[in-house]
Amino acid sequence: DHNSLALPVGTTLDRFIMRKQEDFPYATGELSQLLRDIALATKIVNREINRSGLIDIAGAYGNRNVQGEDQQKLDVVANIRFIRALRNGGEVCTIVSEEDEEVIQTGNNQGKYVVAMDPLDGSSNIDVNVSIGTIFSIYRRISPTGTVGNEQDCLQRGTHQVAAGYVIYGSSTMLVYTTGNGVNGFTYEPSLGEFFLSHPNITIPASGSVYSINEGSADSFSAGLASFIAYCKQQSYSARYIGSLVADFHRNLLKGGIYIYPPTQKSPSGKLRLLYECNPLAFIVEQAGGKSSNGYTRTMEIEPTGLHDRCPLFVGSKDLVEKVEEFLAAE
Ligand code: AHG
Ligand code: MN
Ligand code: MN
Ligand code: MN
Repeated sequence: DHNSLALPVGTTLDRFIMRKQEDFPYATGELSQLLRDIALATKIVNREINRSGLIDIAGAYGNRNVQGEDQQKLDVVANIRFIRALRNGGEVCTIVSEEDEEVIQTGNNQGKYVVAMDPLDGSSNIDVNVSIGTIFSIYRRISPTGTVGNEQDCLQRGTHQVAAGYVIYGSSTMLVYTTGNGVNGFTYEPSLGEFFLSHPNITIPASGSVYSINEGSADSFSAGLASFIAYCKQQSYSARYIGSLVADFHRNLLKGGIYIYPPTQKSPSGKLRLLYECNPLAFIVEQAGGKSSNGYTRTMEIEPTGLHDRCPLFVGSKDLVEKVEEFLAAE
């Protein structure tokens, strides 16, 4: 079967999706089309990000989102681009976005899929030219085809994800995603407008010597977490924290390490959102051989109660996540 034929590096995303689709029983091509729709939106957003210093989309939009954050213009631009691409693609009935309080109905009531997305992650880094990202999670709808999608379609636990991925707009723009058969990375060639397979079958090192956490919140760390951070220092691990989740996660996925966003004074349930930040990255890291939890429970088994639920995130190399969980259990 095609799986055994490892697709050569340099395969285009389109060809890769086509070949992988054959691995799906009853694949009817909708998920493949949906992945193409997302790739199209990332190309458009990538172009706008690369020009954000030149055209007037840097800086604040002058609006607060449901998170209580000052929306950046690029937050809004990316949100519009992804919603439009998913609406025009026809495969998605309902969308959850960090930037919208309520679910967005696309009008595609025949669409079989629901998408939860963080259209632009790391917005505070846009104006200082630090890597930023997009994160998405795909579910099959529960409600009957032909009806308007509803909140239950969107509040499924992470184990029900059909696909998940992220884009990192960094020194190069990459799309990394899984459909439950491993993780593959594609690098964008802007002069051709194509994504090419550059990182086939990504696996995260079982251990690592990088820890990523905002130590500015150390005063609110639990005793167990404080002990783990002291342990990292005794081991002379490297502290690497970009403050852009996708960039921090991507580095740790390739090199090994752990990313932690714990409960803090300001965010007692952590700052990151379960539906469109924690769950998609948890799916990817598990498919790459790593682990993700809230410190106690596997991220993908946490039952969502609200579209914008926040959830502590301990994600990365298996040994490091298990190590911090030991420290937390002992406290
Ligand atoms: P977003 O820009 O989508 O709101 O996400 C920001 C997140 C994440 O990207 C980053 O790791 C984290 O916020 C940084 O938070 P702190 O500044 O509190 O460390
Ligand atoms: Mn935000
Ligand atoms: Mn984010
Ligand atoms: Mn965001």
